[in-house]
Amino acid sequence: MEPTVGPPASDRVFIFDTTLRDGEQSPGASLTPDQKVAIAWQLARLGVDVIEAGFPLSSPGDFEAVQRIARQIRGPMITALARAARPDIDAVWQAVQDAERKQIHMVLSVSDIHIERKLRSNRRDVLRRGVEAVAYARSLCDDVEYSPEDAGRADLEYLFETLEAVIDAGATVVNIPDTTGYTLPNEFGALIASIRENVRNIDRALISVHCHNDLGLSTANSVAAVLNGARRVECTVNGIGERAGNASLEEVVMILRTREKSLGLLTGIDTTRLAEVSALVSRHTGIPVQPNKAVVGGNAFAHASGIHQDGVLKDKLNYEIMRPEEVGMGESRIVLSPRSGRHAFQFRLGELGYHLSEADFGRAWEQFLALADRKKDILDRDLEDIVRSTHNLASTPPPLAGEGRVGVVA
Ligand code: KIV
Ligand code: ZN
Repeated sequence: MEPTVGPPASDRVFIFDTTLRDGEQSPGASLTPDQKVAIAWQLARLGVDVIEAGFPLSSPGDFEAVQRIARQIRGPMITALARAARPDIDAVWQAVQDAERKQIHMVLSVSDIHIERKLRSNRRDVLRRGVEAVAYARSLCDDVEYSPEDAGRADLEYLFETLEAVIDAGATVVNIPDTTGYTLPNEFGALIASIRENVRNIDRALISVHCHNDLGLSTANSVAAVLNGARRVECTVNGIGERAGNASLEEVVMILRTREKSLGLLTGIDTTRLAEVSALVSRHTGIPVQPNKAVVGGNAFAHASGIHQDGVLKDKLNYEIMRPEEVGMGESRIVLSPRSGRHAFQFRLGELGYHLSEADFGRAWEQFLALADRKKDILDRDLEDIVRSTHNLASTPPPLAGEGRVGVVA
């Protein structure tokens, strides 16, 4: 999608990780302070620019976790969430004030749906409350982020007015949330462009975005936003978060990296750590990573059909747009199944040290197909049995490599 306004001066996109705040809002994902600190260390090694460590007023445990992260982690900015109210803001400030770099993040609704049906208030009062809260937060902290909640469904003029007022009050970052995951990529991109065109003082604030995945568009919307001038993306490891989750950090980062030539944008992420962090977050939250998850799913670099296997064995470029090593996923895998081809079967036998005559290979292949139709996981031991029963081995079988599912390294 083409940007509708010219790009901002910088091509650096900042990664704001909210795994420990929005991600932890996933049903059943709650983390202990120790687990949060362990994940924060890994996020810092990954190279995220901002860690949103929690919502300190929500519980003493969360306050403790945010404070420990603020005191221990160096490198990323540490922030935490407040509603636009002094007790929340005070709690965030107490929790983050010892960080090397700190920010207060504040949220207050902007859509009429939320103002009328959630806050039971009106636009004027909500705007006044937001401005007062930002001014108060700025009296404590040099860096204040304002999130007009449900911006994706808000009246445009009122959104512009709100952004202008909170920037005047001292907000240094304005974060545009598609809280309900409602917008389409072209709409969300145009929203960011229109903010850049219509908010008088927008050059005094960084534009951030925060997209939810209710319609599966959170990553696409985030990318549309950066193409239209947003320079910070809020995201979570494995895309976890409230309801259907948030934009997935690994997807956003790998889109910018893989398509760098056409997008011209960069992050500071060490992508080789993505798989490790994904596994850590999955382990601590108890939320498994779906096998077909882009970038870090178990099948993201596995090839199962004969046509694809043949292509990958000839040249990985045929079916891989990223290298698994780039994201810390080890090597590509060739998975033997009834849909596999002779090329992959022969390759795996060769890897195990078996070089069969043409006649033996033909018989082994028939046996393999019959077995693969019956059995889901073909183990190295199964291949060994097949080879033994075909006789006339051209080489002596080596000791078996192990009992893992047949997977090969192409
Ligand atoms: O989804 C949302 O609107 C939020 C805000 C706090 C940014 O999580
Ligand atoms: Zn959210």
